[in-house]
Amino acid sequence: MDYKELMRQAIEMRERAYTPYSGYQVGAALLSKSGTVYRGCNVENAAYSPGICAERTAFVKAVSEGEREFSAIAVIGGAAGGSLELAPPCGICRQVMREFCNPDTFEIVLGTGPEDYKVYTLSQLLPLSFGPENLEKQENV
Ligand code: THU
Repeated sequence: MDYKELMRQAIEMRERAYTPYSGYQVGAALLSKSGTVYRGCNVENAAYSPGICAERTAFVKAVSEGEREFSAIAVIGGAAGGSLELAPPCGICRQVMREFCNPDTFEIVLGTGPEDYKVYTLSQLLPLSFGPENLEKQENV
């Protein structure tokens, strides 16, 4: 699975976004270390805060199927009916990635399409992060 194909998967998933409130559609394709791709889109809600981002949809699908190790995620956005745009993951999604991924090796593929993307590590997008290891020495865990 190369990153061009991962980006294509994210673009395909973006079509399924449910965005009656923002009209901003996001697709994500998450590659597990086992080689399976889990795809997600954003799903909004009339009460607003229950809405979920595309990246977290993909993570929740994957983790609930038993996956725990991931190598990369491609993300793409853009207004419904408009052109594809680079969609930087929000802070909450970056933190969810941090829970399951090594920040120095997990790669985030961002751009406007399969021919135009850049690859970032999670460390680059979420420096000096707080993660599971920070709680390892707690006696109450
Ligand atoms: N959105 C995502 O799906 N991923 C992000 O990382 C940023 C924002 C969604 C949430 C909402 O449905 C829409 O984009 C506008 O904020």
